[in-house]
Amino acid sequence: MLRDTSVLMDEKRVFKPNYQLVEDAHVKNWEAELEKGKDLEKYWSEKAEQFEWFEKWDKVLDESNKPFYKWFVNGKINLAYNAVDRWISTDKRNQVAILYVNERGEEKKLTYYELYREVNKMANALKNLGIKKGDTVSTYLPMCPELLISLLACTKIGAIHSVVYSGLSVGAFVERMNDARAKVLITADGTYRRGKIIDLKKIADEAILQCPTIETIVVVNHTGQAIEISDLSGREIFYERLIEGESDECAPEKMDAEDPLFILYTSGSTGKPKGVLHTTGGYMVGVATTLRNVFDVHNGDLWWCTGDIGWITGHSYVIYGPLLLGTTTLVYEGAPDYPDPGIWWRIVEKYGVTKFYTAPTAIRHLMRFGNKYPNIYNLSSLKILGSVGEPINPEAWMWYYKNVGKEKTPIMDTWWQTETGMHMIAPLPVAPLKPGSATRPLPGIDAEIIDENGNQVPLGKGGYLIIKKPWPAMFRTLYEDEERFLDVYWKSLPGGVYRAGDVARKDEDGYLWIQGRSDDVLKIAGHRVGTSEVESAFVAHSAVAEAAVIGKSDPIKGQVIKAFLILKEGYKMNTALIEDLKKHVRYELGPVAVLGEIEQVEKLPKTRSGKIMRRILRAQEEGDDLGDTSTLEE
Ligand code: WTA
Repeated sequence: MLRDTSVLMDEKRVFKPNYQLVEDAHVKNWEAELEKGKDLEKYWSEKAEQFEWFEKWDKVLDESNKPFYKWFVNGKINLAYNAVDRWISTDKRNQVAILYVNERGEEKKLTYYELYREVNKMANALKNLGIKKGDTVSTYLPMCPELLISLLACTKIGAIHSVVYSGLSVGAFVERMNDARAKVLITADGTYRRGKIIDLKKIADEAILQCPTIETIVVVNHTGQAIEISDLSGREIFYERLIEGESDECAPEKMDAEDPLFILYTSGSTGKPKGVLHTTGGYMVGVATTLRNVFDVHNGDLWWCTGDIGWITGHSYVIYGPLLLGTTTLVYEGAPDYPDPGIWWRIVEKYGVTKFYTAPTAIRHLMRFGNKYPNIYNLSSLKILGSVGEPINPEAWMWYYKNVGKEKTPIMDTWWQTETGMHMIAPLPVAPLKPGSATRPLPGIDAEIIDENGNQVPLGKGGYLIIKKPWPAMFRTLYEDEERFLDVYWKSLPGGVYRAGDVARKDEDGYLWIQGRSDDVLKIAGHRVGTSEVESAFVAHSAVAEAAVIGKSDPIKGQVIKAFLILKEGYKMNTALIEDLKKHVRYELGPVAVLGEIEQVEKLPKTRSGKIMRRILRAQEEGDDLGDTSTLEE
């Protein structure tokens, strides 16, 4: 059933494009570009021509086995080669590729040539560890240059990477590592967070005990204080040691366009996370094209996406997109408000960031501190701002626009998903903007809003967001779970269309307004957290018999968790137990699972077949009508 979308945002403001930007924009005419995008094969093959292929494709799109679409059939390419090696013979050779900055004010710069050599050394080292094309390498690393180098090294030799977000904890880590059957884990001694060092190695050590496939653990000595060589076990080696003496030349593996590139786990409606699998050629073309057009990337730009590489935003728009365009990507390790809430703006001023991409939750968090901080710094280098991860409320949009962009820089509200790999619904710099709307589907993307029966819903009415035609960066399957891939995304609505899992509406200008998820996935501070993952974590605690979890609105995080628990006999809810439960869930899932409230209940609303009806809990919580209760047990 659809969530009630009658409370639609009544946002009427329209912001015209900034003409200075439009003048040298890659795309000067929105309508014309949308028109071009209608010829899918022509549009995407033109974009693909801009890369260096070892062998050109025979066919742009193979639709013979829907929904197992293939892009750039029989094309041979290497993504790392296109992101790094390609620039070495150009005047970008000595340009900074990665600008790493952390909350302590330390910086590290790697030019394209330096990055090239580091990637090659690591690629050779991985080969020496026995990693071959098709093997999986996992990382559990902070935002640091070694993370980008390691992923590019995998890509160079055709290994599949599987990044575990460093904010996830033991339980989540073990599940992801074992599902991907990683052979090598690359981790670090720690990460900086608000003046402290979080001991990643300790979490990894604990998790590894339950990960039988791991043969080697590579440890980046990142914070430089936690571990001695003598602390390392037989199968552990420091990153520096590992690459010592390795050649800085490494031939790129010739990959088929459809060879796997990476697995990235994300939350769905059941307890088990989904291993979203992306492949090489289409992903490369989609990510680079969208970044180039939406953020109008040019020579001389300094690109900063604050998203963590543990999530899709970081994969597509911290590493691959910017390097494929030969721009400079700023990699920041730290929080937005430490040592003070001006840190991000200080970095923008210091380095002259031109394009800045972040999440609504961060904006709302910084808004709390007022205009003071963005006004202290000179932000005039900024040309385009971006937003991703959840709907941006008009109030946050306006604050961002006025205080950060000084009413000159457009805000690109980009809707997309781990599964889509690239921006799908987003404006271009030439587009008139409406605060809170991601505007229209990008050129080459066919999105629509339908009801349960597959009919297009009338304008202004809420419905399921779907994508009707394939796009190059689309995920190809869920790792070793084809059935779930088909059931969740392609079969649950009529018409063989891609079901995004979001509810949206369309206005009279064809602008789309995303309302939120239609499934049991929460968005906590922009991070995807599955309600059943949290429920499983609760039930693993000795005091809990049954658990149901819903999202509760939160002014900063968007949503936080509200849990309803049935306790086992002999247990009573009290402050000590609540604290213990919170600690337990944090241990299982990590700080992403932000607990708002925990309530003890005697019963949970269930269907006759025993499924928890979270919808009823949500409605009760928000004081809404309970809706259809015919399947309710009691
Ligand atoms: C939500 C993040 C509104 C949406 C790139 C989607 C958004 C989910 C937006 C995917 C946006 C992402 N406006 N909602 N601009 N961007 N979402 O996989 O619910 O972490 O389905 O990918 O985030 O989250 P994921």
